[in-house]
Amino acid sequence: MTRNLTKLGLITAATVLCLAPMSGTSAADVNTLLATCANCHGKDGASTDPNDPVIGGMSATYLAAQMSAYKKKERPCPATEVKAGDKKGTKTDMCEVVKDLGDGDIKAVADYLAKQKFVRASQAADAALAAKGQQLHQQNCEKCHSNNGSVPDDDAGILAGQWTAYVKEQLAAFKSDARKGDPKMKPAIDRLDAASIDALVNFYASLK
Ligand code: HEC
Ligand code: HEC
Repeated sequence: MTRNLTKLGLITAATVLCLAPMSGTSAADVNTLLATCANCHGKDGASTDPNDPVIGGMSATYLAAQMSAYKKKERPCPATEVKAGDKKGTKTDMCEVVKDLGDGDIKAVADYLAKQKFVRASQAADAALAAKGQQLHQQNCEKCHSNNGSVPDDDAGILAGQWTAYVKEQLAAFKSDARKGDPKMKPAIDRLDAASIDALVNFYASLK
């Protein structure tokens, strides 16, 4: 509520700081945190870097769950470079980024990002492979990743228009058990050979 009003410019930052103790996290903190995220994930989570997933517009439930998973190191944390801001060029990883965040911070950041638009990545896709990938998606993935993996409320990330390098990396992580996802997804992923994965990622990349 406080955040919405700030966004609409209806109350000042000073008012927010007075109200903040009631909500657990001050709007000022959230803005600082979001600025950190933007250094890699772009403004409002609309990443323009192929190595950083688009995160704006995913569900708050999914985003908070993934941040908690990184915090508990239940997901691989590949090293990555800060793309902008004061720490540009230095290396860090997602586990490091979220390690000091409390539940209130995680919720506030997830709620904000969930209200943003998922801006699909602008990337090349092979049309023939995408057609094959569409079929594979329908048969194996659509029941949980509905409407071609574009529905936030599925609480399963967003596949349509996500950066290919990231999607590929996650499929490999599920396969090797380095990332433990929904146990019911595991058989669907295990069935995929390299050619099928290639077709699927071209399908998701083709959705603009
Ligand atoms: C230094 C660059 C960097 C910064 C800063 C950063 N991220 Fe990330 N983030 C990444 C990369 C790279 C990945 C993909 C990592 C992987 O392979 O799991 C990622 C993954 C994620 C994911 C998982 C996406 C999904 O679809 O499951 C979420 C959620 C996320 N970041 C949220 C945040 C938030 C919130 C912040 C700010 C508090 C933040 N990130 C700051 C680089 C960054
Ligand atoms: C039984 C339901 C189910 C099926 C079937 C399923 N998934 Fe998932 N998938 C999920 C859930 C739930 C998540 C998110 C949470 C998690 O990791 O457990 C997820 C996460 C993912 C992610 C990570 C998204 C991100 O932003 O990091 C990818 C990639 C993915 N699925 C691809 C696929 C593909 C490709 C198929 C079909 C071959 C598939 N899934 C089939 C339920 C499913």
